[in-house]
Amino acid sequence: MKNILVTGGAGFIGVNFIKMLLNTTDDVKIINYDALTYAGNLESLEDCIKNPRYVFVHGDIQDKSLLAQTIQNHNIEGIINFAAESHVDRSISDPDIFVKTNVLGTLNLLQNAVKFNIKRFLQVSTDEVYGSLGNDGKFTENTNLSPNSPYSASKASADHFVRAYNHTFKLDTVTTRCSNNYGPYQFPEKMIPLCINNILANKNLPVYGDGLQVRDWLFVKDHCTAIWEVFNHGKTGEVYNIGGCNEKTNLELVKTLLRILKRPESLITFVKDRPGHDRRYSIDNTKIMSQLNWKPSVTFEEGIELTVKWYLDNKNWLESVTSGHYQKYYSEMYVNR
Ligand code: NAD
Ligand code: DAU
Repeated sequence: MKNILVTGGAGFIGVNFIKMLLNTTDDVKIINYDALTYAGNLESLEDCIKNPRYVFVHGDIQDKSLLAQTIQNHNIEGIINFAAESHVDRSISDPDIFVKTNVLGTLNLLQNAVKFNIKRFLQVSTDEVYGSLGNDGKFTENTNLSPNSPYSASKASADHFVRAYNHTFKLDTVTTRCSNNYGPYQFPEKMIPLCINNILANKNLPVYGDGLQVRDWLFVKDHCTAIWEVFNHGKTGEVYNIGGCNEKTNLELVKTLLRILKRPESLITFVKDRPGHDRRYSIDNTKIMSQLNWKPSVTFEEGIELTVKWYLDNKNWLESVTSGHYQKYYSEMYVNR
């Protein structure tokens, strides 16, 4: 497939995905369709602008006519939907936009995909749709959906619509459910870049609750190769879990960052927990590894060093995204927490 609509391509994972595709293919054209919310940043894609295989369209996935026009104008054959409101904490304070973008926006994409005979639709979903684990076990593709936050409820709802469009309209769909990503270009509302940014500013690191919640960390570039593999070789109608096999407690994670940046553990501050905080995520990777021959290429130790180095080398990017609205967000979320 040559002409692919990548929605949300100005966000963290989308940026990494577009760069990977432009660097590793020579016949794929990418139409990046993004509303440029607080999380979207075209500065991250400056090196792509001159590439004739890259086009940017400023648009909302809820916009029916612009979406239809974009699909027609660019002879779109495939859609990869990254566009979403993606931060759990924001979904607790302001859930409406999560339903609008993640549910209604996805539905609009599916309707247009059917209308214009799109050959394949990939929904980028999350392991959070499965809910939370105890000390043992892993999420498989057969685990029941039990979303706990407004964010994960909206993503699970979108997953159901994708499934329904495959079943009812015979749209060729695949869905990926990935664990926590980290790496270059991640907005510093998420744990790892937030902590790196705070360490660089000599500020405390806010750890929710007891800090013993577990996340399964995956380097973003490995997520991107997995998505491309599923897009090209996944079986229609199926779901593929993607995980890094790197379970860490949040406390282990912040201590690692402090060690790499040579700062004292006294910067760790325990703050009020996130309401409904999921305790543990862990992905069973067996299906994607055995059926599509994908595996993570970067260890956690390599990935976290690369990530810290990227933020140190790109302080201008960090300064640019943490000015303005970010300051207001940070003080509302953390001051007096
Ligand atoms: P992000 O918040 O960094 O980027 C989201 C992008 O979507 C931004 O560029 C934003 O401008 C765009 N967008 C938001 N609303 C839009 C709308 N209505 N129309 C068009 N564009 C819109 O998110 P991310 O971390 O890059 O996540 C990308 C996808 O991957 C999301 O669907 C998320 O649920 C999923 N995911 C993320 C992770 C993770 O750890 N970050 C893990 C698993 C799955
Ligand atoms: O599992 C995949 C999901 O991972 C994605 O679907 C989401 O889009 C992505 O945001 C991420 O969700 P989390 O809620 O796990 O990520 P976050 O970076 O917000 O938090 C990681 C862990 O760190 C979580 O247990 C909450 C904790 N945390 C987070 C922040 C921002 C803190 O202790 N302090 C903080 O300030």
